[in-house]
Amino acid sequence: MANVVVIGTQWGDEGKGKVVDLLTEKADCVVRFQGGNNAGHTLVVEGTQYIFHLIPSGILHPGKVCMIGNGVVLDPGVLLQEMDRLNGLGRSVTPDNLVISRYTHIIMPYHRALDLARENAKGHGKIGTTGRGIGPCYEDKVCRSGIRLHDLFDEQALRSKLERNLKEKNFLLEHFFGASPLEVDAVAEEYLAYGRRLAPFADNVSERLQQSVRENRHIHFEGAQGTHLDIDHGTYPYVTSSNTVAGNACCGSGIGPTRIHAVLGVVKAYTTRVGGGPFPTELEDETGERIRAVGGEFGSTTGRPRRCGWLDMVVVNSAVRLNGLAGLIITKLDVLTGIPKLKICVSYRCGTRSLDMVPPELEALEKCEPVCREFDGWEEDLRGIRRYQDLPLNTRRYLEAVEELSGVPIGIVSVGPAREETILLKDPFQ
Ligand code: IMP
Repeated sequence: MANVVVIGTQWGDEGKGKVVDLLTEKADCVVRFQGGNNAGHTLVVEGTQYIFHLIPSGILHPGKVCMIGNGVVLDPGVLLQEMDRLNGLGRSVTPDNLVISRYTHIIMPYHRALDLARENAKGHGKIGTTGRGIGPCYEDKVCRSGIRLHDLFDEQALRSKLERNLKEKNFLLEHFFGASPLEVDAVAEEYLAYGRRLAPFADNVSERLQQSVRENRHIHFEGAQGTHLDIDHGTYPYVTSSNTVAGNACCGSGIGPTRIHAVLGVVKAYTTRVGGGPFPTELEDETGERIRAVGGEFGSTTGRPRRCGWLDMVVVNSAVRLNGLAGLIITKLDVLTGIPKLKICVSYRCGTRSLDMVPPELEALEKCEPVCREFDGWEEDLRGIRRYQDLPLNTRRYLEAVEELSGVPIGIVSVGPAREETILLKDPFQ
């Protein structure tokens, strides 16, 4: 029996969706514990493309239970659309395969309005948020004025919280940002209707997880975003509003740390970043454009082009430390095929200092220059390869460098978007 957390080691978009989908075959429950519909997983299964923002991708596997933990911020309109789309594709979503924590905070229309208004007001120095209201929803959670899923089942409670919140939010929207105010009645009606549809899915996720542990079931915790977007440990302020590191799997779902057996880190074979913020190995040239085009590096939530760059082991090694990684999963290796010379960043030069970890201060990181090792590339198409020993010599050298530089073994290598385009070296649930 093993309960495993899977985390992105970079700035998100590492290809976790496919990894989680693969690992779900061995798991009984899949749990999301932070973030919201700022995340996006694209999956190709039996020729059909699925895009998930909220529902764990484990929903595509019959017999598995997907859970949305209290640490997630939930936009109920988006969730219901996602459920309807899946139902339309013959993948039914029912209370048997989806459980949502009653204590999940709800993204309200004023959160979205404030997120957009604030970003627009920032001009230079924009975080580049996804505009989904994620930050403002977490703000209300922390200042204890949030609305949680169970509030949508109680008209009186919802109206009184809305009246209180809208007084302040409307003042800000109208008089500070010059945006339109919102009406209590319209918002209450919309959200009570969501509540009626979501009530059968609401439960105490922490208790359900305890039950799963008692029954020796495999639980898989699916991280969203990536380690360096963590609100505490990321490249602040260019981060998301939740803790994306593995430790938050416990707080965001209500399971104790002693119940977690392993943490695996997903490493894209190169690096990408969406939105603002420092990115030492960024390639603003033809190679960067080629990686973006071949890798389809456009946000699955916002469609924005992702910034692309070389693999940065300073970034990955900081994630090894912050998450206590026991194994690495390499994704999108096939995207590098045909690039004659590849680089891996092994340290940063910051003035006269050499750094092997990402410095927490933005000002220091902005001054860092990457120190890279060069590798010969490969021409062979990797997508049909299923055994490690069949990979080209130069590909294996690239992977061996990742293991050597991180000191963490590679368990899985993904060589294409489809489920079967995968090389399994070690079963993560063993
Ligand atoms: P927010 O999470 O919408 O507040 O956005 C804050 C920052 O996190 C922005 O730079 C976003 O582009 C980034 N971000 C949020 N979610 C993701 C994701 O799933 N992948 C990559 N970047 C993300």
